[in-house]
Amino acid sequence: IPFTEDGFVGFQPIAPVPADRDQVTVPANFTWTPIIRWGDPLFADAPEFDPNNQCATAQSRQFGYNNDYTTIMLHPNFANGLRGVMFVNHEYTNPEIMVPPSMDKAEARAISQNAHGLTVVELVRETVYSPWRYIKGGALNRRFLLDTTFELTGPAAGSDLVKTKADPEGRWVKGTFANCSGGVTPWGTVLSGEENFHGYFVGKGKSAEEKRYGITDKETTHGWELDDPRFSAKNAGYENESHRFGYVVEVDPFNPTSTPKKRTALGRFKHEGANVIIAQNGKVVAYSGDDERFDYLYKFVSKNTYRSWDRAHNMTLLDEGDLYVAKFSGNSPESEIDGTGKTPSDGKFDGTGEWLPLIKDGKSMVPGMTVEQVAVFTRLAADLVGPTKMDRCEDVEPSLHTGKVYVACTNNSKRETADEVNPRVKNRDGHVVEITERGGDQTNTKFDWNLLLVAGDPRQGDVTYFSGFPVDKVSPISCPDNVAFDEMGNLWISTDGAPDGIGYADGLFRVQLTGPERGKTTQFLAVPREAETCGPFINARDGYAVVAVQHPGEDGTWADQHSAFPYEGNTVPRPAVIQALPVRRWG
Ligand code: FEO
Ligand code: CA
Ligand code: CA
Ligand code: CA
Repeated sequence: IPFTEDGFVGFQPIAPVPADRDQVTVPANFTWTPIIRWGDPLFADAPEFDPNNQCATAQSRQFGYNNDYTTIMLHPNFANGLRGVMFVNHEYTNPEIMVPPSMDKAEARAISQNAHGLTVVELVRETVYSPWRYIKGGALNRRFLLDTTFELTGPAAGSDLVKTKADPEGRWVKGTFANCSGGVTPWGTVLSGEENFHGYFVGKGKSAEEKRYGITDKETTHGWELDDPRFSAKNAGYENESHRFGYVVEVDPFNPTSTPKKRTALGRFKHEGANVIIAQNGKVVAYSGDDERFDYLYKFVSKNTYRSWDRAHNMTLLDEGDLYVAKFSGNSPESEIDGTGKTPSDGKFDGTGEWLPLIKDGKSMVPGMTVEQVAVFTRLAADLVGPTKMDRCEDVEPSLHTGKVYVACTNNSKRETADEVNPRVKNRDGHVVEITERGGDQTNTKFDWNLLLVAGDPRQGDVTYFSGFPVDKVSPISCPDNVAFDEMGNLWISTDGAPDGIGYADGLFRVQLTGPERGKTTQFLAVPREAETCGPFINARDGYAVVAVQHPGEDGTWADQHSAFPYEGNTVPRPAVIQALPVRRWG
């Protein structure tokens, strides 16, 4: 299969797949194969997966559940490009389809706990055109579980707001969970966003802070408070435990004994993920979205500068710097933004914007709040400076080709008042914002923006916008969630929620960003029934795409499973990271 002019292996876009079809769909002349599946043994002593006899101890040594953000880096010790290191988030679990209902409840919770967290796993391939396989017992293989120690760094570290009975220093946190998307840094570490952490904590039910973060005084569905007192603020000494989650985590996948960090300088909210770029002046700029209806988009600018030769130094860059939140202004008359998604008369959804400072030069810029309070109660701080309420910012990623930043706004069923950057009421299908920092300076506090896509299915009559590309020539797309780039600078989008919107399975799409075909959106892959598409990781040079298939068959039960993914005779669906590649190049 020849490379096309744009460099990626040529593919015929797939037709949209009905949402109830339990299969992985890839283009003609492509095939797919799992790299690693829920329950696969990671260590030499780890037991093989046995769905009918799963236990917490086995799970702690196996690949976790509901793989989300996924990235592959080449192993630096192997110049042939045939060894890799993969990092994967395990966002949450679906206990009702993972374990039989007869299982002891405490054991089921322990399995669930050990199926959360993170995985680092080594990979190998025969040639650069062969699929990756994981290496059981790889020297870098690692699980990050609820007993893994994370160091809090940045403004909140050591503050009274994060001290607990078990950690009177306020610096050492056990575990990470609800990790959704992420990113790779130029110094070869991985960032991972702690997203829906609120659902794991019982609060006291009174404070404005708890309310703003969605923590209630009710029992949680996970029930972890039954196993460990720190999950309830009603237990003396653990009032602050929830203040220790909701951060961006930084992991060094190449050092299996390293202590992972929670970077509080990037603020505390429902971080979808974080992605960084180095500005012209050497400062590191990290972008991150808060995935909640009507929440905000943030950026962090490091105080110190990147040094290509000094990895240890670079690993401190996310500890100190300025934190901003975004305010967007449209340039079309309000009367033209009617909430339907109809393009304004100037032909574009566009305008200017401003990054409003929350922390600058180590000081709080928010009246009445200390810098520690801004770092821990970032949502409340942002509320005080008037940023734009967005339609659920999911993944946010700068293009390393152009510096432009892409923001996936996945949907917002509750929006009643449209503005130019969130132009649809009851936004079912989402949109993608493109930000250009003023002067190409990533540290600038002023920017220009436009919408790249207003998603939906034009053939079903949805009002859409694909940067002016003819809407009858695009693949229908709904609920953009994760974004990635290939080596040519094309944007790739994975979706979460299309079945409830346009009625098709979620999938992976390529979007052209430049030239006469800007906005052209083509579907590459679709995932099984009730799954969302995560990752993704694109390697156009070697000609493959990797996606994490998350929560296949999640509306089923143990007795009535809705998915048999990955179709190897298993009785339970197994969330898995899969690789799609051209048939004829394999082996
Ligand atoms: Fe876990 Fe915002 O998706
Ligand atoms: Ca406009
Ligand atoms: Ca997501
Ligand atoms: Ca999502």
